[in-house]
Amino acid sequence: MSSNSAITTRLQVRITMLALCLLLCMTGRAMAQPAGHEESLAAWAKIQIVLQHPRCLNCHQAESPLQGDTQRGHIPHVIRGPESHGVSGMKCGTCHNEMGNNLASGAPGAPRWQLAPISMLWQGLSGGDLCRSLKDPAKNGNRSLAAITTHMGTDKLVLWGWNPGPRREAVPLMHDEFMKQVSIWVAGGAICPQ
Ligand code: HEC
Ligand code: HEC
Repeated sequence: MSSNSAITTRLQVRITMLALCLLLCMTGRAMAQPAGHEESLAAWAKIQIVLQHPRCLNCHQAESPLQGDTQRGHIPHVIRGPESHGVSGMKCGTCHNEMGNNLASGAPGAPRWQLAPISMLWQGLSGGDLCRSLKDPAKNGNRSLAAITTHMGTDKLVLWGWNPGPRREAVPLMHDEFMKQVSIWVAGGAICPQ
């Protein structure tokens, strides 16, 4: 082997290694998660604790609401009815209304108090399924992520969870901290766990 061809071979080996390295770097980057992915997942974990709290779940039920921190059946027994606000004689608004929490009767209150639509049944869902259901326009009332954010920020029934009246635990995160987590979740791609 002449010294010239030895140099060429060494050069070829170096170029091959360089190319290999470049390839590895590129596929490595392609396989890594996009920016914000981990942050989004971590934010969801906090959001989920709020959504799965009795203050929210007690209304996001199939046929009848639940009561209290122990999630017992509603007394008196009430049912959804055709428009989700009960049946005649037992309309939700008879006892729950825009006057707010009624300290005398113990009935909590907010405007348009009613069961969440059946497509928004959250009870029994894993965190991942709840997350996917929340994002699904076919289930969430045809809302975009922006509309979900607005709902979480301004809806009176949601806000009631932070002002539930005596003998009921408020949801476990301050509202502005909760909204911060919602925007991190959305900004990172609204990632759901498995
Ligand atoms: C008094 C019953 C009630 C309570 C309590 C309640 N919700 Fe709801 N929720 C509803 C109703 C009714 C709707 C449907 C509103 C609509 O589509 O206009 C709804 C819809 C939603 C939606 C939009 C649809 C979806 O599935 O994405 C979100 C988000 C939501 N609720 C979050 C919450 C959170 C968070 C809490 C607790 C802090 C909560 N809700 C507590 C009744 C309730
Ligand atoms: C006859 C009066 C009456 C009617 C009608 C009524 N409720 Fe209630 N509801 C109450 C009272 C009183 C409480 C408080 C009970 C307690 O905390 O011990 C309550 C509590 C609740 C709670 C529990 C809130 C929480 O997280 O602890 C939910 C949810 C609820 N009602 C939803 C409904 C819905 C939805 C309807 C209509 C389908 C309805 N209620 C109809 C009287 C009524």
